[in-house]
Amino acid sequence: MNPASEPAQLKDIVAHAKEYGFVFQSSEIYDGLAAVYDYGPNGVELKNNLKRLWWEAMTQLNGNVVGIDAAIFMDPRTWEASGHIAGFNDPLIDNLDSKKRYRADVLLEEKAAEYENAGDPARGAALTAEMGRLLTANDLAGVRQLILDEKILCPVSKTGNWTEVRQFNLMFSTQGSAVDSDAPPVYLRPETAQGIFVNFLNVQKSARMKVPFGIAQIGKAFRNEIVARQFIFRMREFEQMEMQFFVRPGTEGEWYDTWKAARRRFHEALGLPAAKLRFHDHDKLAHYAKAAVDIEYEFPFGFKEMEGIHSRGDFDLTQHQNLSRKKQQYFDADIDPATGKAYGNYVPFVVETSVGADRLFLATMCNAFTEETITEGEGETLQTKTRTFLKLPPALAPVKAAIFPLVRKDGMPEKAQEIFDALKFDFRLVLEERDAIGKRYTRQDLIGTPFCIVVDGQTLEDETVTVRHRDSREQTRMPISELRAYIGEAVSFRRIFEQL
Ligand code: GAP
Repeated sequence: MNPASEPAQLKDIVAHAKEYGFVFQSSEIYDGLAAVYDYGPNGVELKNNLKRLWWEAMTQLNGNVVGIDAAIFMDPRTWEASGHIAGFNDPLIDNLDSKKRYRADVLLEEKAAEYENAGDPARGAALTAEMGRLLTANDLAGVRQLILDEKILCPVSKTGNWTEVRQFNLMFSTQGSAVDSDAPPVYLRPETAQGIFVNFLNVQKSARMKVPFGIAQIGKAFRNEIVARQFIFRMREFEQMEMQFFVRPGTEGEWYDTWKAARRRFHEALGLPAAKLRFHDHDKLAHYAKAAVDIEYEFPFGFKEMEGIHSRGDFDLTQHQNLSRKKQQYFDADIDPATGKAYGNYVPFVVETSVGADRLFLATMCNAFTEETITEGEGETLQTKTRTFLKLPPALAPVKAAIFPLVRKDGMPEKAQEIFDALKFDFRLVLEERDAIGKRYTRQDLIGTPFCIVVDGQTLEDETVTVRHRDSREQTRMPISELRAYIGEAVSFRRIFEQL
């Protein structure tokens, strides 16, 4: 990563994520592996909460969506059928002076964004449309010419001395067989979706699903990304949360609109502001897609794709049917009002929703990262300072409540331990005795803990504690016996689900 090229805000979030145990560069002690990251103690909790919310929103709130967990390795023919071997490429271009490599489409998109920012969105749109046309036609010479015509220069060498544009396959492969060196390589899946497609009939039959129904999956995917930057936005190993929704041909348009709206509601229910979310129709459709839209979030580096919703037609199931020679049909016994007969056998069409867990994590962190100016103390001790905290929705917070004895004596630590033991079956908590209370509050603010419970002298007399609220810093007094219900309500997934 080149810190100098990052906007200040992303730099702050990257630093915060490392300092407070959310995200670390992979293999950092060896100077780090580019575009690969590890999640720390708080990061894994936040990410698991996001994944669990998505999982339950899919498989618990929808009676017609079930889950699977398919393997990362698949028969290599999967990727032949899916079109990834032939078509999962990025167009690359090198600058001969700086020897730097770029994605040709990214250079053009950045140019289009420049026009947009300079108040000429029509010119930007025309450029992306032309790029889309050339890429769809695989006209790589045309793409290069467009870069030259637009006078796009290498940001490093500042020259337009470009090579030809070449296609580069993004799949990682590894040796498939320890005994047969001629065996074809196996690939690390570049999307989780194919594990769903090849299991379509297994799931439909075993779970007795009727079209329309969906199959959801969360799992790792791997892509040899060329432009690896913007922290966890573009990684080589990442996690997808995908759902393939199988529908009767002809109904895919309605389902596409339904899922498009449902997925946007999900992000808003997670607290991402409507003004920072937008739909963006694809200029260049992936090889499998009939229609595609991104839900973009406004990251510190601009509006970028967080989720894709794709109308994939019967492309995948038909491809697998042809290559495997195993029928991928569904018998629909419902009566077609047009003919008065059963719909009968068909290969279902698919509407896919696909969101990156890491991108959702990044959007959540960016949205939660808050710096506010506060005044503390009074009279001569009055001071103004900046308070940094993570304004995470309580349901997502890694720690739901921190319990502090005010001092380490007079039975307060024992009482705090008692409260911890009573609540630990329901919530992830921390118990902290060290340092001044203000410092302890600050530590919890930095990781987004919504509540700090303080055991003080009065607690020992009347079984009440103070509950300090992260966002307002206000404190309320509450009986210990009410804590479970109070925190439980605030951190429940139900509050999010009710908005869906
Ligand atoms: N099955 C369809 C599919 O894979 P995609 O638009 O290529 O579609 C879906 O990817 C989502 O996966 C993206 O919207 C993004 O959130 C996430 N994603 C893709 N590539 C990624 C990468 N290199 N790093 C992190 N997330 C990525």
